[in-house]
Amino acid sequence: MSTVVLIGTQWGDEGKGKVTDFLAERADMIVRYQGGNNAGHTVVVDDQVYKLHLIPSGILYQNKMCVIGSGVVIDPAVLINELKSLEARGIDTANLKISQRAHVIFPYHQRLDQAEEKSKGNNKIGTTCRGIGPAYMDKAARVGIRMIDLIDQDEFAPLLERNVANANRVLTRVYDNENVDYNTVLESYRGYAEILRKYVDDISVIVNKAINEGKSILCEGAQGTLLDLDHGTYPYVTSSHPTAGAACLGAGIGPAKIDRVIGVAKAYTTRVGEGPFPTELKDETGAYIQERGGEIGTTTGRPRRCGWFDGVMGRYAVRINGLHCLAVTKLDVLSGLEKVKICTSYNYRGDILDEFPASLKVLNECVPVYEEFSGWREDITSAKKLEDLPVNARRYLDRVSELAGAPIALIGVGSKRSQTILTAEL
Ligand code: GDP
Ligand code: IMO
Ligand code: MG
Repeated sequence: MSTVVLIGTQWGDEGKGKVTDFLAERADMIVRYQGGNNAGHTVVVDDQVYKLHLIPSGILYQNKMCVIGSGVVIDPAVLINELKSLEARGIDTANLKISQRAHVIFPYHQRLDQAEEKSKGNNKIGTTCRGIGPAYMDKAARVGIRMIDLIDQDEFAPLLERNVANANRVLTRVYDNENVDYNTVLESYRGYAEILRKYVDDISVIVNKAINEGKSILCEGAQGTLLDLDHGTYPYVTSSHPTAGAACLGAGIGPAKIDRVIGVAKAYTTRVGEGPFPTELKDETGAYIQERGGEIGTTTGRPRRCGWFDGVMGRYAVRINGLHCLAVTKLDVLSGLEKVKICTSYNYRGDILDEFPASLKVLNECVPVYEEFSGWREDITSAKKLEDLPVNARRYLDRVSELAGAPIALIGVGSKRSQTILTAEL
């Protein structure tokens, strides 16, 4: 492994945490490059379950440098809780570095997120209400507060005072909401600054130095391609860029430094929150997948909507991210279904669409064109190599790979580290 970017190819929750954890064994450094604590990455090691929101999934190994990059928005209270709970479980967090340039989430961001969602009524996005969108809005509006500002005792208070005043104007006048108290926020965030100060650094210097020394870097994406602000199902997206290009920005490295891009895809599709989902199953098969896959949101506890694998989306993700290969997870969940289906294209008013449309109006009217496959009954959770999989499961994977246009390098057959089949060198 050299410098590898790992991204989600669907609407998030593809199993990026598990695959990152699996690949992190060979990496020297793991970098989270965008998103915030809207992410929930579950890693299962032996009988221990870890749910990570901000800290890279590589933290579970000793002696791996873990970096939170400049593209991430950080809720310091959540980060400190995550650090404390890992430490309480015997995980060493001394190797964490946080970008000076990462933006900070404040309580008024969460309040604004909730108020905006409420005001949208039936058109709500179904955000995680963690303040992610409003924090990125401040960043783009050039009024955000970065980690370097948070830990600066002189700079911080006036910036916060200005932002609280602005946020309060919107909260009270636009949303008929209550004020956020400046002094309470100032006091608590000064406390957070003292705890986090020792981790804050110039991460671009650190990451580039590691690359120049020949170290292996693994960039861990959050969310998924179809939640990307540019390339996702806008406006039902997140406010950052989960796609591979953002790894350069968030890690502070040039595009030529990236050697490989891996896309994580579930063997089916899920989505949390609102927005179009052409292959969604609102029947007993959807319920079967939801139940067997334990498809409940890691961050918000909301049930995930489930549907068939979408080859149009797979192809789109390969193109947008320049994927070298796919990691297909949760194949074990499909065991026991008599028939399994893959969407190969969309039928829009009689026309066949092979490419993912930008218009939600079109997407909402798209009817998936399916290929049907015979399923497999076998429990595959102990499979160690490709040959251990039933022939129907292999046939299914071959078609997924063919439709997406990328080889499959890794297959997940269970949530544990050991339940992973490597089919190509990564
Ligand atoms: P992420 O956000 O992409 O990291 O994914 P999540 O952690 O939110 O959701 C994926 C869920 O599937 C987690 O509960 C994982 O433990 C679990 N998981 C990952 N890979 C597999 C797999 O191959 N099989 C099964 N059964 N579960 C898996
Ligand atoms: P991981 O990294 C799944 C979804 C929300 C909502 C939309 C916008 O675990 O894959 P936001 O709070 O970001 O403004 O919400 O994006 N969403 C996710 N869905 N997995 C995630 O992260 C998500 N992060 C955000 O449900 O639809
Ligand atoms: Mg998740």
